[in-house]
Amino acid sequence: MPKEMKGSELISRLNSSVVFKSLGGQSAPGLKLSREDMDWWREAKLGMFIHWGLYSILGRGEWVYFREQLSDAEYRKLAGEFCPDQSPEQIAQSWVSAAQNAGMKYMVMVTRHHDGFSLWDSPGSFGQFTTAATGPKADYVRAYADACHAAGMRTGFYYSPMDWRFPGYFHPKEQLDSALRMKQQTYDQVEELTTRYGQVDILWYDGGWLAHTGSDCDSAWLYEPVKLNRMVRRNAPKAVINPRSGWEGDFYCDEGSHEVRGKIIPVPWEKSMCLCTGKSWGWMPEQDDPLSSLDSLLTMLVNVVCRDGNLILNVGPDQNGRIRPDVEKRLSQIGSWMEENGEAIYATRAGIFQPVDSVYGTTFRENRLYLHIQDPEAFRRQTLPPIPYQIERAETLDGISLEIRAAGEGWTVDLPQRLIEEKRVDTIVRITLDRPIVERFDEDIRFTGE
Ligand code: GLC
Repeated sequence: MPKEMKGSELISRLNSSVVFKSLGGQSAPGLKLSREDMDWWREAKLGMFIHWGLYSILGRGEWVYFREQLSDAEYRKLAGEFCPDQSPEQIAQSWVSAAQNAGMKYMVMVTRHHDGFSLWDSPGSFGQFTTAATGPKADYVRAYADACHAAGMRTGFYYSPMDWRFPGYFHPKEQLDSALRMKQQTYDQVEELTTRYGQVDILWYDGGWLAHTGSDCDSAWLYEPVKLNRMVRRNAPKAVINPRSGWEGDFYCDEGSHEVRGKIIPVPWEKSMCLCTGKSWGWMPEQDDPLSSLDSLLTMLVNVVCRDGNLILNVGPDQNGRIRPDVEKRLSQIGSWMEENGEAIYATRAGIFQPVDSVYGTTFRENRLYLHIQDPEAFRRQTLPPIPYQIERAETLDGISLEIRAAGEGWTVDLPQRLIEEKRVDTIVRITLDRPIVERFDEDIRFTGE
């Protein structure tokens, strides 16, 4: 039996800054993936999120239709103007290449955001508000799924059950017919996405709430998320599903660029955030939404991975499907870092030590323990806890041998002055042990609410 807990209890127990969304979702026997089925996702660590749609033309955020109360006619007109100057295949290929250059192992494309505009040929779309029926006459989801599959990139779809075009979204009880019509669209479209485009590795729901109030779980009376996800499991039995449909899901979501501190989180979780400052998930010009620094993004990655999470970084391509050049450059810088240091990130698990905020954290794989030292000066004053393994050697990833010293009950690693002065965002030390590490921090927890 899973241990029942509130999100806030977990957070206070771990002294964590992470805030999970949509806790308290319904549970259902046999619907969650097994630990083994989640392995690839846990090992992947880094993914790309893509927000692209009509809002990319305006550059005022993906909520522009709602925030500026644009009329349906006005917004629909944009669909006629959505005519990228490249083919769907070129666009999709450029996204997959950018993700590969960043060392990302999975992608999640927004197939339909809250504005209702579907990026595929969707018979279930209310009013045929799709890229196939309007301007570009194209199926971008197909191009994307094909490009991911061809590249061996794990393929994820973001899908928003809610749709601002329905009065029933805002007044579900009063306008139940409209709400039910919206629900029907969700079932039809999720069915399409999970049957027509080959293997789906991730299904990422967002905005299962109603009338912008409460949490995703409060809308379960309408959407019947267990029924919805049973359908998904029939079509895509191994898809990793997030918790934001009102069903508890396979992993937990922490959204936004707030810092990650505290202990290792004993459940599968993912932080989603923008590569830019996060004013918008959709495209904005550089001056309105500046790029985050490489150091801050890498620090985030290390903080997340040392607490056993994944990081998904969002890009918002422009109306032609092009990723901003500064963003593209940042992605390849992340990729270069991953090329040199990925050994201590991919396919590792967090531990065996609890992180010390801003000083160091650890990851491990087999008989290798990786120290991720974020503040070498402060690390010098740390004593590492004793371990039940023999240490065979300690070295940097580029092969500099380091001395281990006994200190009190535990031990320390001597860092040469040069490494201290270099001030890398993450000075990685590889410790080789006499046998594989067996510790795991997993717990079987069911969250009953925030
Ligand atoms: C936020 C934004 C939404 C975006 C989502 C991605 O909730 O409001 O537009 O799609 O984050 O996680």
